[in-house]
Amino acid sequence: MFVGVLKDRYINEKRVSIVPQDVQNLKKLGVEVLVEKSAGEEAGFSDEDYSSQGAKITDRNEVFEKAEVLLKVRAIMAEEDEFRKEAENYREKLVVSTVEPFSLSEEIIGKIADLKITVFSLELIPRITRAQNMDILSSMATIAGYRAVILGAYHLKKMFPMLMTAGGTIFPAKVFVIGAGVAGLQAIATAKRLGAVVEAYDIRPAVKEQVQSLGAKFVELGLETDSAEDRGGYAKAMDEEFYRKQREVMTEVIARSDLVISTAMVPGKRAPVLITREMVNKMKRGSVIVDLAAERGGNCEVTEPGKEVEVEGVKILGPLNLPSDLPRDSSQLFSRNVTNFLKLMIKDGRLDIDLEDEILKETLLFKEGELVNERITQVLGVNG
Ligand code: NAI
Repeated sequence: MFVGVLKDRYINEKRVSIVPQDVQNLKKLGVEVLVEKSAGEEAGFSDEDYSSQGAKITDRNEVFEKAEVLLKVRAIMAEEDEFRKEAENYREKLVVSTVEPFSLSEEIIGKIADLKITVFSLELIPRITRAQNMDILSSMATIAGYRAVILGAYHLKKMFPMLMTAGGTIFPAKVFVIGAGVAGLQAIATAKRLGAVVEAYDIRPAVKEQVQSLGAKFVELGLETDSAEDRGGYAKAMDEEFYRKQREVMTEVIARSDLVISTAMVPGKRAPVLITREMVNKMKRGSVIVDLAAERGGNCEVTEPGKEVEVEGVKILGPLNLPSDLPRDSSQLFSRNVTNFLKLMIKDGRLDIDLEDEILKETLLFKEGELVNERITQVLGVNG
């Protein structure tokens, strides 16, 4: 059986789903690995790097022709124009990639049904201990949290560490991280390493100790959040009255911060608006907000996804796809996660998909074109 690695063509996507180091790991499953020409180029991996590990480099058509399993970073439909042109190539294939399952349109659902594609959505991998080494959300959030701090530091008009010099004292930058999930915790750790004074807040009370163990101060807002965590460890959506209070009590912390990194998200929902224009106006000129929730609408009222906005001397950055800015490391983590995932469904060179396995069951989105994932059908309100 052939497993095909397609070059991702989504705008500014530099990652590749499998890196050369994992070719041998895939071959141990008894499969041949076909890699589209220059698939890893933008992530820093040449075709020779792949072929020296035993992969066959070929053109896109041959990958489609021969591979039963197709691997990508981005959803096939993310590359809209491309997908329209080459949709037929996906007929009856099995695709493993990220899919953004909460934003599937009816048109796409219909198209996948016509083409009888089987799709495993990597974002749906359950966050259980056994699946930790397949958890692409954590891998990518780790990279994004780090990169957000580097980006913020670059745009800030002051440096991070405290310096006592003959020329006087430079006070450390004050960084406030909103949302201390995987990305937030990595942002805290990175900002601390650069010498900033870091404060953080999350509505899940369990996070407080994790924040403190990284040497940051957990900001107590005096809000009632005991019911803010669901069984999966994720935040639940709160009502507008809660968010109003949260904005009110966070205003002062935000006003005293030089850099705010916001990462607050609720699965399947628009990100809550936690920083209003008024709150931005209270920040010092030269301060920066890096809104990591930009892909999901943004935590800041003035964020424009993918752009840099300036309001009264404060820069608000809404970066999209930060992991693609560090494509070598993010591809390496993504690739190992995907390889571990494939070990569950490929045995002795053949597909052997046991839907009793919790990880495969929860990750399977379309089975031969049929939308079978209960979590997604419920959220989208469609019948599978
Ligand atoms: P996420 O990207 O969905 O959200 C980021 C953070 O924003 C979360 O910590 C959330 O509590 C917070 N948030 C939501 N609304 C907020 C608000 N109004 N104000 C402040 N913060 C707010 O979450 P992420 O980072 O993907 O993971 C969340 C949790 O999932 C982890 O901390 C952990 O408990 C669990 N997890 C478990 C894993 C495992 O067991 N294998 C692996 C990774 C995560």
